Amino acid sequence: MKPARIVLNEPIAEDLYLLEIELVEPIDKEPKPFQFASLWIPRVKEIPLSISYAELERSRFRFIYKLRGRGTRALSETLSGSFLGVKIPLGRGIDLRELRGKKLLVVCGGVGIAPLPYLVRVCSENGYEVHVVCGFRTRQGVPPIDLVFPISPHSVHIATEDCSVGYCGDALTLAKKVSKSENFDDLIFVGPSSMLKKACEEFRDVDPMISLETLVRCGLGLCGSCYIRGSTKLLCVDGPVFRCSEVSEYLAGLPD
Ligand code: FES
Repeated sequence: MKPARIVLNEPIAEDLYLLEIELVEPIDKEPKPFQFASLWIPRVKEIPLSISYAELERSRFRFIYKLRGRGTRALSETLSGSFLGVKIPLGRGIDLRELRGKKLLVVCGGVGIAPLPYLVRVCSENGYEVHVVCGFRTRQGVPPIDLVFPISPHSVHIATEDCSVGYCGDALTLAKKVSKSENFDDLIFVGPSSMLKKACEEFRDVDPMISLETLVRCGLGLCGSCYIRGSTKLLCVDGPVFRCSEVSEYLAGLPD
């Protein structure tokens, strides 16, 4: 666990926060997209958060998190200048060479937007094209896109379920429309498990990638709490991103 100072911690949409931290001691390993960190909030608990952006040369890391329990609520009340404990980077993330080509459609639901800014940066540095579709319930839930993405994706399409901004409907329906109008080499979905399960069914023919969420405790492959049922995989070692076909048994056991 490394000490880190909070540089910025502010709301950017309804129940959505942007956190920036600076590690006291630098790390020398550039994270991969979709790797995550475990943040220890002193006297409260440890929570896993996706890395939203990394600037290794300044030891700065960003996270976008949603208020959804005691840990994230306590984090949202922690002031700039305070210190946290951090394990970073965790997980395998993705290696761009695993992708089937250089033109990607990345689809997110709500706080699923969190890992995308860093993915976009790494992709754009390596000549990949990232098109983003993101769905939110209401206008109040949509964060400022320029603030979220320090490097702009090739395109961003927003959907809201109450029809207040952008496309009227959910992210999956909009993703189907976008993927019919243009060809993409690979698809990645990030969001709630019900959305991932549906994405794997509706895009079965292309076997997309999905970023899973499970209970994470140690983050180091030791406790077994992040075991993906029906597979031989641990999310904190092998994930969080898998092809649908690798975790089909796990998905089948999820509620619709
Ligand atoms: S969180 Fe402990 S093994 Fe993955």
